Amino acid sequence: MVMWVFGYGSLIWKAGFNFDERLVGFIKGYRRVFYQGSTDHRGTPEFPGRTVTLEPAECEVCWGVAYKIIKEEDQEIALTYLEVREKQYDKKAYVDFFTDPVAASPAVSGVMVYIASPDKKLNVNYLGPASTEEIAKQIVVAEGPSGPNRDYLFQLEKALLQFGCKDEHVIDLANEVRRILLETEPTFA
Ligand code: SIN
Repeated sequence: MVMWVFGYGSLIWKAGFNFDERLVGFIKGYRRVFYQGSTDHRGTPEFPGRTVTLEPAECEVCWGVAYKIIKEEDQEIALTYLEVREKQYDKKAYVDFFTDPVAASPAVSGVMVYIASPDKKLNVNYLGPASTEEIAKQIVVAEGPSGPNRDYLFQLEKALLQFGCKDEHVIDLANEVRRILLETEPTFA
């Protein structure tokens, strides 16, 4: 059976596994939010970074990409890799993926997606909502083994804009982080 994986964060610009097809599209009933704490990729236990997770949201959609993996061997390698990379995401869901905003039926069903839930018992790193200013301040200082948290945010903004997705939450945060950096880091321009 063919396997599909939906990416809405770093998986958009860095798959990290072999795939046979990459489709741009969206899932319904969720929005992308910078509510997940990252102590393993974009932060440390002392200064957790923030990465995106999905929050249920009726009538909203979340744009991203879906990767198709055909060969069983590639699927096994991808899953092993993703289980480590996404280990701070405590839930896996299987969703409908759409490529056409006016189509009633999905382009693909049963697409796997990693979600970091707000259940603090299952997901100890969950940070949850905060003001744009607060989230931005955290992102400015956080850095982890995968690099600065600000790069994650800027790469996500760029990757989304490349396929025409203007995600307000992401753009507002990126603008606020740029504002802080212009004020505090003279070399940032
Ligand atoms: C994803 O990209 O789909 C999950 C969140 C992340 O790794 O940034």
